[in-house]
Amino acid sequence: MTSAISTANNDNIVWHTHKIDKAYRAKQKNQQSSVLWFTGLSGAGKSTIAGALEQRLAELGYHTYLLDGDNVRHGLCQDLGFSTEDRRENIRRIGEVAKIMADAGLIVLSAFISPHRHERQLVRDMLPSGEFLEVFVDTPLDECERRDPKGLYKKARAGEIKQFTGIDSEYEQPLNAEIHLAAGHHSVQQLVDLCVDALKARKIIE
Ligand code: ADX
Repeated sequence: MTSAISTANNDNIVWHTHKIDKAYRAKQKNQQSSVLWFTGLSGAGKSTIAGALEQRLAELGYHTYLLDGDNVRHGLCQDLGFSTEDRRENIRRIGEVAKIMADAGLIVLSAFISPHRHERQLVRDMLPSGEFLEVFVDTPLDECERRDPKGLYKKARAGEIKQFTGIDSEYEQPLNAEIHLAAGHHSVQQLVDLCVDALKARKIIE
């Protein structure tokens, strides 16, 4: 049933390969496993667009899971703050979860600021080539601040929140995102259409 193919950093922990594998699980769902990694400033629209895309994919019969920054920070990552080290650990954990979900054959949508290029690269490197699609939700800072849906920019400007992305903590824009959404200039449904087209072009869905 199982075979040993590699070892972890502990010699007594052995990887098992099972007969029902990722390809089988994905085929069962008529899709390719993938991780759509939405990145952008707080208030850029990551969760909104990812949620609308998930709804569209569900209506089309595909199998998805949405990992959302604010939600994950209520559980899996509730012990983490917003220092550079904590954000890195946040993204590393999410990456591992996304990888397991992709192994389950799912189309995973993740919505995290993930402000640093090296963290996003870390997750990209966890997955086979072509399975990680970076989706840059490109909404300018002044527009995010104008929207300020949670009132957090106002607090950050008043010095009540420290290390707030875009204010006193950096956001490194993607250089080669697979999908670039000029989110301030299109409706959510138009952005969802763009994502669906990109998924079809890559044969992730039919
Ligand atoms: S990340 O930088 O580690 O990727 P993540 O996406 O999980 O961030 O969480 C971002 C959300 O946490 C924001 O949308 C906002 O609601 C909230 N938040 C609270 N404090 C901060 C902060 N200092 N910087 C950014 N977002 C914060």
